[in-house]
Amino acid sequence: MINFLRGLPKVELHAHLNGSLSIESIKELAEKVYGQQSEEFAEMCERFISFEKGANLNDCFQKFAFVHELTSTPQGLDYATQLAIRDFARDNVMYLELRTTPKSNGNMTRRAYLETVISAIKRGTKQHEINVKLLPSINRSEPVAVAEETVALATEIAQNEPDIVVGIDFSGNPNQGKFSEFAPVLETARKHGFKLAIHCAEIDNPVEIREMLKFGMSRCGHGTYLGNSGFAHMKQYNIPIECCLTSNVKSGTVSSFGSHHLKQLLLADAPKVLCTDDCGVFDTTLSDEFLLATETFGLTQSQCIDLIIEAVQHSFATPEEKLKMKMQVYAYTRRQ
Ligand code: IMP
Ligand code: ZN
Repeated sequence: MINFLRGLPKVELHAHLNGSLSIESIKELAEKVYGQQSEEFAEMCERFISFEKGANLNDCFQKFAFVHELTSTPQGLDYATQLAIRDFARDNVMYLELRTTPKSNGNMTRRAYLETVISAIKRGTKQHEINVKLLPSINRSEPVAVAEETVALATEIAQNEPDIVVGIDFSGNPNQGKFSEFAPVLETARKHGFKLAIHCAEIDNPVEIREMLKFGMSRCGHGTYLGNSGFAHMKQYNIPIECCLTSNVKSGTVSSFGSHHLKQLLLADAPKVLCTDDCGVFDTTLSDEFLLATETFGLTQSQCIDLIIEAVQHSFATPEEKLKMKMQVYAYTRRQ
C-alpha cells in the first residue's frame, strides 16, 4: 500500500509554507542561511536534537519559530520555498496549493515577501514536476489592517500572476481574533475573484462557526467541531473539509485517529480532501496521511484514487489543469 500511495500523483490543498519544511530541509536551510561553520548553525543543531528524541507538541510549535527565523530574509524565504516545493514533489505531489502569511520586518516588506515566494514558485515548478499555486494567508491574531494590506497586495500581484495567486487563506491561532472583524476584508477578496479557504471549527466556537457558514467559503480547513448539521451544510453546498489527521491528533483538537471526523464525512459521503497542514511541524507526508486513512478507516486503493480526484475537483486549478491532473492519475492506475 505505501509504495502504491507514494507513487500515486497526489494533490495537496492545505499546506502552510513555514510549517511544511521537514527537519532535514530545516537543517539544509540553516546551513545555507548561517553557514555550516557558524555558531548559529551549531546552536540550531543542538536545538534539533530534542526534536529527534521524541518531540512533544511544544517542541512542534517551536519549529514555526525556528523556521520563521530562517525565512526572515529574502534569501532564506526563497530557499525555504524551493525546499518545500522539492519535498512535496519528492512525495509525488503533482499539484500544491501553498499558503503563507506575508510578513514585514527590517529585511523585507510584505510585498517583497510575496514576490520572493512567487519567484521561488516559478523556479520550483520548472525544476520539478509539480504545479504550485499560492494562497496568501490572513493571520487572525494580527490586526485587520494587516489583512487589508495583504488582500490589497494579493489583488495587485494577481493581475500579473493570475495563474499563481488564486485564493486567500484565513488561519492563525483560533483562540485569538474575531472572524466577524475580518469578514469585510474577506468579502473584498472574494469580490476580487479570490477563492477563500477558511480555517473553520478548528475549536468549539458555535457562534463563530455559524458566522462562517453564513459567510460561505470555497473550502473549509479542519471543520473539526462542525457537528452533524455543519457536515450536512457542507454537503449541501459542496464545500470540502480539508482533513489533516496527524495535525489534528498531534495538536490535540482530535483525541485519536479512530475518532477523527473523516469517518463521519466518509459515511455521510460529504466532500472532503486529505491534507498535511504542516507536514514539517507534524512530521508527516501526504503519502503518510493516506496510509493512516487506509489503516484507520480501511480505505482501499480505489477509494484513495477517488479522494485524489475529489481533491482535483475542489482545487483552485483551471479546468485544463484539472483535466491534466485526472489524466495523470488514470495513467498511473493503468500502470498498476
Ligand atoms: P506561514 O504562514 O508560512 O508562516 O505558516 C505558519 C503559520 O500558519 C502559523 O504561524 C499559523 O499562523 C498558520 N497555521 C499553521 N497551522 C495552523 C493551524 O493548524 N491552524 C491555524 N493556523 C495555522
Ligand atoms: Zn492549517
